[in-house]
Amino acid sequence: MKRIVILISGRGSNMRSIVEACTGEGWPAHVVAVISNRPDAAGLVFAVERGIATSIVDHQSFATRDAFDAALAQAIDAHAPDLVVMAGFMRVLGAACVCRYEARMLNIHPSLLPAFAGLHTHRRAIEAGCKLAGATVHFVTSQLDHGPIVLQAAVPVLSGDDERSLSERVLAMEHGIYPRAVRWFVEGQLRTEGGVVTQTGGEPQLVL
Ligand code: GAR
Repeated sequence: MKRIVILISGRGSNMRSIVEACTGEGWPAHVVAVISNRPDAAGLVFAVERGIATSIVDHQSFATRDAFDAALAQAIDAHAPDLVVMAGFMRVLGAACVCRYEARMLNIHPSLLPAFAGLHTHRRAIEAGCKLAGATVHFVTSQLDHGPIVLQAAVPVLSGDDERSLSERVLAMEHGIYPRAVRWFVEGQLRTEGGVVTQTGGEPQLVL
């Protein structure tokens, strides 16, 4: 059984979709811990209710990013994960921490990367007049919101959309693609070559 640690910062709806798919679909995996950098992250309540170990590594308690990263790595490693899943985890990790989990750390970002890395993706997509938006699951590298792309989902940007309506449409897709990407990982169905990820079972890596 593969061991999954999930990192959150807030609501935790992606974490929840992964936990539910993991148990509901009988993956060869367990979510062994949920770790938050914010003590008040709402997603922690769901994890506790599900009997999943939780811990808090509050970034505000550390003077430097390196000190925070070291404490976070210690908290993660205590659960000996095969995979670390960033699910709305809103802290940028330093290169040393990212390297530690190379090829075994996933992130979801609410844009069609490489467009709109960083914050306020939906607002920026609307302001740029984009007709298509979406979400990307990717392996984490030291470059923020970049790294080999596992799976993308696209949705239309509709006239009259605001940040909220677009984010809701994208989030609904996130809840479909993130569990799928994590399942591929735990089932050993991902190969990365030259920065390009292939799903070896022939499942589509694009959802429209
Ligand atoms: C999600 O939309 C996720 O894509 C985004 O934060 C939200 C978290 O929601 N992540 C990022 O912006 C990371 N750069 P959730 O806590 O309900 O899963």
